[in-house]
Amino acid sequence: MKTILITGATAGIGEAAARRFAAGGWRVIGTGRRAQRLKETNVTGLVALTRALLPRIVERRGAIINLGSVAGTYPYKGGAVYGGTKAFVHQFSLDLRCDLHGTGVRVTSIEPGMIETEFTLVRTGGDKDASDKLYAGMNPMTSDDLAETIWWIATLPPHLNINTIELMPVNQSFAGFAVHREG
Ligand SMILES: NC(=O)c1ccc[n+]([C@@H]2O[C@H](COP(=O)([O-])OP(=O)(O)OC[C@H]3O[C@@H](n4cnc5c(N)ncnc54)[C@H](OP(=O)(O)O)[C@@H]3O)[C@@H](O)[C@H]2O)c1
Repeated sequence: MKTILITGATAGIGEAAARRFAAGGWRVIGTGRRAQRLKETNVTGLVALTRALLPRIVERRGAIINLGSVAGTYPYKGGAVYGGTKAFVHQFSLDLRCDLHGTGVRVTSIEPGMIETEFTLVRTGGDKDASDKLYAGMNPMTSDDLAETIWWIATLPPHLNINTIELMPVNQSFAGFAVHREG
């Protein structure tokens, strides 16, 4: 039986992915810290966990699927720290591929746009209005959309590696550069 470890499996994409892999007959190991939501950033947890798990992943010729974001590629107002951590996830994943060359371990960075989860509630400190407004009338992606993508990547033949995949809801696209004019 195949095994998947999903961090952040208590909500959102992680929870949906846990259900998808369980339904597909995999053994699912999920982590979350619902009891005490520490504020420790996306970067340190990712590095520490990867380091701790890597020997077993190499032994099993496993796969690592990291969740980055379009925020790691496209800047937006207020996204400096979040975007910076997601740029880290992207490059960390590519560099891991180099380090793991020859081991058979696959590494993917999934980089999505807007998905309606608890994510915005958490980021705004529980502001439900702000969260509802963000997703209102724009048909965002769902956790299940992402779970299907993760499932697809994980179940590809072992000789195939998706390095990076970027996906967005149709109703989200790009804004241009901002120009401030004097006077
Ligand atoms: N939603 C979006 O629009 C969107 C877009 C692009 C990328 N993403 C990325 O997708 C991933 C999942 O987000 P989501 O939308 O599913 O959010 P979510 O619904 O808020 O779920 C986040 C999950 O991560 C866990 N978590 C949060 N902070 C953590 C930390 N510091 N250490 C360990 N676990 C932590 C939470 O569990 P506990 O609180 O129980 O620990 C929860 O299970 C994130 O990396 C996010 O940046 C989301």
